[in-house]
Amino acid sequence: MIMRKNVLALVSMLAIGGAVGGAAVARADGPDIIGIRKAGMDLVFAVVGDMKRSVEAGADVMPLADNATAIARWAKQIPAAFPEGSDKGQDTAALPAIWSDRAGFEKASTALEVAAGKLAEADKAGDKAAFAEAFKATGAACGGCHKAYRVKKS
Ligand code: HEC
Repeated sequence: MIMRKNVLALVSMLAIGGAVGGAAVARADGPDIIGIRKAGMDLVFAVVGDMKRSVEAGADVMPLADNATAIARWAKQIPAAFPEGSDKGQDTAALPAIWSDRAGFEKASTALEVAAGKLAEADKAGDKAAFAEAFKATGAACGGCHKAYRVKKS
């Protein structure tokens, strides 16, 4: 009888262990990184669009400093949003070059961070000419990375 109890205890311990192990796996798989990066890209697209409309309307560029800072912060996080193993699923448009040419991908992220940093400086200074130049560089940084690392839209 005692033996049987011990066996049951062992079995239930293993079951708990298994459940904990399972939970750990579920956590590692947890964040929907492809969904997160697509949402981030959609947001940055919206932020850039807002900027463009403001500028076309001849608005003051000073209130756009928060937009610029947000773009720079997102740019810094782009490489982390493309971890190993996130090359498939959810119709991702990520190209394999992101992982085979990691240095180039990181450089492309930095190019956006630098351009957005210049945007923020121009915004804070209220310098429309500097803004126009940095805005062009920002657009080029988006396009440059997409050209090399994103599946072309048909
Ligand atoms: C360092 C590379 C890089 C930079 C810089 C970059 N992107 Fe992207 N972007 C990507 C990749 C790769 C994808 C595809 C992501 C996927 O499908 O998993 C993408 C996807 C997108 C998408 C589609 C998102 C969706 O819902 O499928 C939009 C919109 C976008 N980017 C806008 C921008 C804008 C605007 C900028 C500049 C402010 C920018 N991106 C800068 C690499 C970059």
